[in-house]
Amino acid sequence: MAVKNYVLVCGGSACESAKGNDIYKSLLHQAEVQGVSNDLQIVKTGCFGFCEKGPIVKVLPDEAFYVEVKPDDAEEIISENIVKGRMVDRLLYKEEGKKDFKPENIKFYQKQERIVLRNCGLIDPESIDEYIARDGYMGLEKALFELTPEQILDELNKSGLRGRGGAGFPTGLKWSFTQRIESDQKYVVCNADEGDPGAYMDRATLEGDPHSVIEAMTIAGKCVGADKGAIYIRAEYPLAIKRLEIAMDQARERGLLGDNILGTDFSFDLEIRLGAGAFVCGEETALLASIEGKRGMPIPKPPFPAAKGLFGKPTVINNVETYANIPVIISKGGDWFAQFGTEKSKGTKVFALTGKIKNSGLIEVPMGITLREIVFDIGGGIPGGKKFKAVQTGGPSGGVLTEDFLDTPIDFDSLISVGSMMGSGGMIVMDEDDCMVDVAKFYLDFCVEESCGKCAPCRIGTKKLYEILDKISKGKGDIEDLQKMKDMGQAMKKASLCGLGQTAPNPVLSVLNAFEDEVLEHIHNGKCRAGKCKDLVQYSIDESKCIGCTVCARKCPVNCITGDRKVAHVIDQSRCVKCGACYDSCKFGAVLVS
Ligand SMILES: Cc1cc2nc3c(=O)[nH]c(=O)nc-3n(C[C@H](O)[C@H](O)[C@H](O)COP(=O)(O)O)c2cc1C
Ligand code: SF4
Ligand code: SF4
Ligand code: FES
Repeated sequence: MAVKNYVLVCGGSACESAKGNDIYKSLLHQAEVQGVSNDLQIVKTGCFGFCEKGPIVKVLPDEAFYVEVKPDDAEEIISENIVKGRMVDRLLYKEEGKKDFKPENIKFYQKQERIVLRNCGLIDPESIDEYIARDGYMGLEKALFELTPEQILDELNKSGLRGRGGAGFPTGLKWSFTQRIESDQKYVVCNADEGDPGAYMDRATLEGDPHSVIEAMTIAGKCVGADKGAIYIRAEYPLAIKRLEIAMDQARERGLLGDNILGTDFSFDLEIRLGAGAFVCGEETALLASIEGKRGMPIPKPPFPAAKGLFGKPTVINNVETYANIPVIISKGGDWFAQFGTEKSKGTKVFALTGKIKNSGLIEVPMGITLREIVFDIGGGIPGGKKFKAVQTGGPSGGVLTEDFLDTPIDFDSLISVGSMMGSGGMIVMDEDDCMVDVAKFYLDFCVEESCGKCAPCRIGTKKLYEILDKISKGKGDIEDLQKMKDMGQAMKKASLCGLGQTAPNPVLSVLNAFEDEVLEHIHNGKCRAGKCKDLVQYSIDESKCIGCTVCARKCPVNCITGDRKVAHVIDQSRCVKCGACYDSCKFGAVLVS
């Protein structure tokens, strides 16, 4: 049936939680009521990336890009855009006052390159036909009928693809290890654990395009000689799990998964294994132990999973994003992929851009783009006229990058050379209101909670580092603490068993490196310039600026602000819990932090 219009409704987690599903249902209802159901197709898609402006609805072919849509807007979208052919002006995305509704004109999208997210926001992730219509399963077809396992490896090697789960190991090389080993049984595993704070790239990929991962894992099975696979995904991702299950059923129905795929003698099937949300279970050996029904604790490597993995058998284990690249690499060729990115980091990288940034969301950029382009061109800079302070890349394994590194190209090796790392792709932007001692404390706190406790350098080291930072944040640190943290950090890097303990000191070491003056201020002057370390902060009200509007008194959770209307207010210091609500609520700048 030919339709005149397509209405794409974002069905990613962020938009769904902002009533995306109600918008979808309202649009269906309105199309019915207004008698145009046959003229349009309403599609619930994966994330468009621009989550900051969600829920997003896009109408094709006009490319009307509607943002912050509410269920009640459905009536007008149908009556104006679909029935009368006029875009709904008030809902169109506006940039610098202009209505730049076409994605190619929106700065957020201009420097992006979508390979991994090629189908997210474009197709219904619950429809295999829509995936196939966008050349889905062409990579598998080619891998089955045109290429030998060696030729599949050749394409991967030519592509230069490196693992997107953190360490950046060359994918072709990893597969070749498993392929070379003789074994009665081999496995293909997908790491969809995604435990880094602030990261949601893998979840969005699975929610928006689950077939791309299924197709890639099947290609991996064909390449290395495996007939079974597992997707290890955290149970907190119900939408991604549901869409994966639907996609797997559809693939089985079409003969793209299961016995004798597409009539060949190659068989491959997948199952989903749920993780309980422990960060360490993302570490590959812990993950495999967890699938085997054991407690998720890492074991020493070598042997690597490529040789001795799941149930002791050779196992390919890759990250969601790594897999999502593979179908296009096989169908378009490794050389095509290698044109994107830098010499040693090919292709693109998906980042979850969050924190103090105007356009937070999911972005996919060519490797080699600079931090400045990401923060200011794509991210739109820092909100509220505040000053950029740093970006944390690589989550708890990475480090902070300051203004001095804004022109550093983003690729695996450059990030390591400046003391951070790519990690899986969480990117958290900080402004002048963020305290770097507090930031380091946050990541350490996370690692203390998530350490599996198997080895002493990590179990004790993370706790000790946290305690020292806590002391500093209370104004009780001393100068020797800096050297102690550096020594302890270096020892943890060398002696910890797995990547968690080996990288846990990174955020602390990078803060000491880049923001030593700020740490020293806490130690010598008992001062937290960002006003985040509660023990070092006092809130007061400037009489000359306070107009007695009473807002702060009403916001104060412990009622410790007194004062009559139109009379300057006063804070009872003995009862103040230093929550900062008064500071945030005062429109007159009358609340002071010292
Ligand atoms: C503590 C810890 C947590 C990890 N969490 C993840 C994760 O959530 N997802 C992931 O793909 N890799 C994670 N990794 C990396 C994996 O161990 C492994 O390197 C990766 O799955 C390999 O896939 P790739 O080559 O495609 O990157 C983690 C590593 C460590 C040490
Ligand atoms: S480094 Fe930490 S998380 Fe890794 S095995 Fe040792 S205790 Fe467990
Ligand atoms: S910081 Fe919080 S507790 Fe203290 S006066 Fe302000 S609102 Fe009240
Ligand atoms: S979830 Fe809708 S734009 Fe990201």
